[in-house]
Amino acid sequence: MKPLPYGKQLIDADDIAAVAEQLGDDWLTQGPTVAKFEAALCEITGAKFAVAMSSGTAALHLACLAAGVGPGDVGVTSTNTFVASANGIRYCGGTPRMVDIDAETGLMSLRALDEAVRAVRPKVIVPVDFAGAVADLPAIAKHGAVVIEDAAHSLGAEYTHGGRSYRAGSCAHTQMAILSFHPVKHLTTGEGGAVTTNDPALDAKLRELRTHGITRDPQRLTRNDGPWYQEQQSLGYNYRLTDLQCALGLSQAKKFPGFLARRRQIAAQYDAAFAKAPFVGQLVPLRVRDGVTSAYHLYVVRFSGPSLEAIAARRKAVYMALRDAAIFAQVHYVPVHAHPDYAPFVAGQQFPGCDAYYASCLSLPMYPALTDGDVERVVATLGTIVSG
Ligand SMILES: Cc1ncc(COP(=O)(O)O)c(C=O)c1O
Repeated sequence: MKPLPYGKQLIDADDIAAVAEQLGDDWLTQGPTVAKFEAALCEITGAKFAVAMSSGTAALHLACLAAGVGPGDVGVTSTNTFVASANGIRYCGGTPRMVDIDAETGLMSLRALDEAVRAVRPKVIVPVDFAGAVADLPAIAKHGAVVIEDAAHSLGAEYTHGGRSYRAGSCAHTQMAILSFHPVKHLTTGEGGAVTTNDPALDAKLRELRTHGITRDPQRLTRNDGPWYQEQQSLGYNYRLTDLQCALGLSQAKKFPGFLARRRQIAAQYDAAFAKAPFVGQLVPLRVRDGVTSAYHLYVVRFSGPSLEAIAARRKAVYMALRDAAIFAQVHYVPVHAHPDYAPFVAGQQFPGCDAYYASCLSLPMYPALTDGDVERVVATLGTIVSG
């Protein structure tokens, strides 16, 4: 039986040819293909600047550094996320404060955020566009902290505010956004990420931090020994994305509208199936926040039952039965607050929304190469399991 993972890249002959062509080029890294890929990201998100980096995690680290996070500062993020969203705050010496979610949408609870902001006065807030639905960025921006949208799941998503439509990663209501190009994401460079912003000063800072904190800008040099001269002016990193990776990213970016449309078709096919017997009352798709058109990085369903223990047991049994049928669903995520390494940061806090969500959630296969027949197989298999 063909294995169906929860997510997977779609690489075709064009992608392979683009990388092969780059291999014959003078530049393998730090060359012009990086700038071309960054321009493609600006086009997709609508942001003025995009700074490509070696991963989404590197992007979170440098976005927090560029926001000025350091020891003594607090950064707030959702506890329903991949640990990287919170780790970026810690890399800078900051203290992460985890915030509970709305179990129906998987997104940061605005009420819990309000409480956290009053308690800790954060320097940054990192809302997570969970599963591909944009967090309520205009409401989150009202708190006055620097907002870094974690848009790793939401490339191509849209949200409305004040009668207008905005794109994920556009930074219309935030200072920065981060993207990820891991193979399960909307387009891939193998590993890769980016920060988008509309602020030229942040763009310059991020570019410098990406390459060791070194500048060649004649306006900023403290002296100039000649055309070779460069200076490290702050401690940066080697977080560069290579031209090889950007060649793949550029080729993928051309196909991105098709990838996104296919994800939405698959979601519609699942939605239609789960609105009918035998699923009604047993299994409910994650609700997409009002006003949002999701980019469907994940398609999440939630199980119901008399108690969290019963729901979690049911979810596990279904997960195992799907595995037996070569359907590799996944659970997103083990909450950040449940990781042992985060215990010191969450002592005394409760996360009832995320605990309820975590007990009940299951991410079904969702990727552009999934066929209608594959989706039918997932639905039919699930139908047999839930009615059995
Ligand atoms: C919400 C979220 N943020 C950040 C990241 C980190 O991205 P990367 O794997 O590119 O480092 C991920 C990756 O899975 C993610 O899902």
